[in-house]
Amino acid sequence: MNKIELKNITVRYGDHTVLENFSLNVEPGQILGIVGPSGCGKTTVVRAICGFLDPQEGTVVINGNVMYDKARRINVTPEKRHLGVVFQDYAVWPHLTVYENTAYPLKKHGMKKDELRPQVEEALRLVNMSNYANYMPSQLSGGQQQRVAIARALTSSQDLLIMDEPITNLDAKLREQMLVEIRLLQEKLGTTIIYITHDQEAAMQLCDKIVIMQPDGSIAQIGTDEEIITHPANRFVFSFVGVSNFLPVKKVDEKLYLDYDEKIFYSDAVPEDWPKGKDIADMGIRPMDIVFDDEAPVKARIVSATFFGNIYSYFIDIAGHEYRVQRITAGNEEDEKYAEGVVTGIRFLSCKYFEREAKK
Ligand SMILES: Nc1ncnc2c1ncn2[C@@H]1O[C@H](COP(=O)(O)OP(=O)(O)OP(=O)(O)O)[C@@H](O)[C@H]1O
Ligand SMILES: [Mg+2]
Repeated sequence: MNKIELKNITVRYGDHTVLENFSLNVEPGQILGIVGPSGCGKTTVVRAICGFLDPQEGTVVINGNVMYDKARRINVTPEKRHLGVVFQDYAVWPHLTVYENTAYPLKKHGMKKDELRPQVEEALRLVNMSNYANYMPSQLSGGQQQRVAIARALTSSQDLLIMDEPITNLDAKLREQMLVEIRLLQEKLGTTIIYITHDQEAAMQLCDKIVIMQPDGSIAQIGTDEEIITHPANRFVFSFVGVSNFLPVKKVDEKLYLDYDEKIFYSDAVPEDWPKGKDIADMGIRPMDIVFDDEAPVKARIVSATFFGNIYSYFIDIAGHEYRVQRITAGNEEDEKYAEGVVTGIRFLSCKYFEREAKK
């Protein structure tokens, strides 16, 4: 079944509530990403699933079996929850060989040496570490150590793996490679994986579905990468995935103006997603969706222009406020028309309107 259900989990540290009524279903055979800013409660979710902490309220069900139920006083110990877990820190035991590290969970379950050998060997083979069985962790690269941690998790469970920032300590190239390896492993074994990270790009690359947590520990949105990009549930999601600009907008007589000291008209069509009953809002717009158009009524001054080969990246100034713009180029730096100091008109392509956020 490989299923995890969290129902109405509440976790408090003293008077700090980290999770409140947190519910989540993890479906079998998928990689579910949980992303959110640092401190939002991702590791707390992992600890609640694994049994490393006892939520003040709620239920944890794994494969249909209740592992934790506050009201019914059920609390199954971590070892008996049969989950493979990979953490960012203390990934492998430094004093044990690769083989011993991988065998550790089985040994803890009382399995005899001869009995556990085939499973350990298989786990090492799955992560391409068979040739390193007798190495000490200090003789391995960061990526190899992380593979051993995954092998060890696999001997706990090939059905359910939880990875909490498993590759954050690796360099960019190795991270990329590990993401591919994790995907291949999932496809080979049909494992259900919960992949936790604050790196939304890695999550989008790897995961079938993504849960976006907000700073207050609540879930903002669950969806595929495409759903999250094209239909962000709220302003937080829009700003969390990718680079974003927010421009203040005011509606007067069904016309839209940029809402600075001096109002700047830019549209006489109020879009469908304009916040109901409001006369002010914030326009969320990606750097690629602001285009230069000398005829357009909104004027901007180019603050800086940086050439990155196939894109130009700009900072522009509108009425004393800076925003980011990106244009795809043909690859010739000389084509640059919009140098620093130039004043040009701008138009807005695809954008989204959000309720104006109160100033903090
Ligand atoms: N043992 C603890 N005692 C008190 N507060 C804690 C404890 N563990 C975590 N917290 C607090 O709970 C909140 C959530 O922590 P958590 O580790 O779940 O965040 P996270 O989303 O995993 O962050 P990161 O991305 O930095 O790993 C934080 O504000 C943290 O300070
Ligand atoms: Mg964490």
